Amino acid sequence: MARPLSAPRGTRDLLPEDAPAWERMEAIARDLSRRYAFDRIDIPLFERVELFARGLGESSDAVEKEMFRVSGASGSEEERAEWALRPEPTAGIVRAYVEHGLHVRPGPLRLWMLGPMFRYDRPQAGRYRQFSQWDVEVIGDPGPMVDAELIELAHRFFAEAGIRDAVAHVNSIGDAVCRPGYRQALVEYFVAHEDRLTEDSRRRLRVNPLRVLDDKQLDPELVDGAPRSVDHLCEQCAKHFAAVRALLDDQQLRYVVDHRLVRGLDYYTRTTFEFFAAGREGQQDALAGGGRYDGLVELLGGRPTPGIGFGLGIDRAVLAVAADGAAASPPRALVVVVSADPARLAERLRVARALRAGQLSVRVDGSSRKLGKQLEAAARLNARWAVIVGEELARGNVIVRDLDSHDQREVPIVEAAAAMATPP
Ligand code: HAM
Repeated sequence: MARPLSAPRGTRDLLPEDAPAWERMEAIARDLSRRYAFDRIDIPLFERVELFARGLGESSDAVEKEMFRVSGASGSEEERAEWALRPEPTAGIVRAYVEHGLHVRPGPLRLWMLGPMFRYDRPQAGRYRQFSQWDVEVIGDPGPMVDAELIELAHRFFAEAGIRDAVAHVNSIGDAVCRPGYRQALVEYFVAHEDRLTEDSRRRLRVNPLRVLDDKQLDPELVDGAPRSVDHLCEQCAKHFAAVRALLDDQQLRYVVDHRLVRGLDYYTRTTFEFFAAGREGQQDALAGGGRYDGLVELLGGRPTPGIGFGLGIDRAVLAVAADGAAASPPRALVVVVSADPARLAERLRVARALRAGQLSVRVDGSSRKLGKQLEAAARLNARWAVIVGEELARGNVIVRDLDSHDQREVPIVEAAAAMATPP
């Protein structure tokens, strides 16, 4: 026997029994996208490395450590280094916004998408190398109302998914005016405590001091004592953050101000937020994350345009629902078409076709087993009904059998779908 192969580390197969939970999350995402008036956008699974380096920042983990490089089958070394699977969708969406001149459309633009992302990270529970995100972006709205609207939208998703007690952590990390001063204050603080830093943090301190706050290895006391971005906001940023908070309070949404919440991607300005299941607030457990990126459109070659959005991890939402023991969706009403006559294959297909046209979910048993064996097999598939094709067909009829009660009756094919909507 050939040696069996396994899925790449950090990836998972979605097996049929897992599908209903996924479909439910995706259905909620699609429905909320519609109700909150977002338009769908789709972008390629891979883009230029340069887009991510410019957009997310050379020193972000996603670019520095986690890029999934894509190589063409041929081509120069240089060409092969050029592409990467998307680690996140915001940079690609903004690239598309600039490329297609979407700024001329009546705005602000509200865009959503759903799809796989790729990060070559160390896999662990809830952290995968391929994972799925529901992403929403609003481009061209300076806020603060939309900031609160998006946080409310994420809350709404968790409420409809049955994930109770999701908590929003929010922060403001300032803008080009006040961030340099804050960065300087952080550097001074951490340099004074350099002996307590990890090696990773020392490196972060040089390339991106805000990310030191994100280092989970550090003594929490050291991090708690660090200067807070909210104390260094310029007047405009402070006003914006106060307005966002007032709107969240008015909606009575659950949130806490989290001074460590700096986010891992460089494009953020002002409002940042993440969602956690209550009591599970570790880094790899964020159910969703997002924030404002008022400089990104310009950074990627467009005119200065504000933006804000979030990504919600579908894998983690599915895990959270499973952990909460939420009810699985009810089994669908499967119908199996069977026949005692091995010769009646064309008739079986014809009957199945008519039932499927009547919206039923139908399998056809194409075997020449005894009728009883076919019925047993249908019951093992958890089918609700069997439709028996026999000589009644000459009269335009089939036999509809209830596989739970074993009641059966002869009905015209044209009425069979309706007959299975109500027990015989
Ligand atoms: P992010 O925080 O990197 O933000 O990812 C958003 C969400 O994707 C996370 O909160 C988490 O639920 C999920 N996620 C991230 N990495 C993994 C992983 N390795 N395995 C499973 N789930 C994961 C962004 O990606 C930004 N683009 C969000 C955004 C949109 N900001 C503005 N607009």
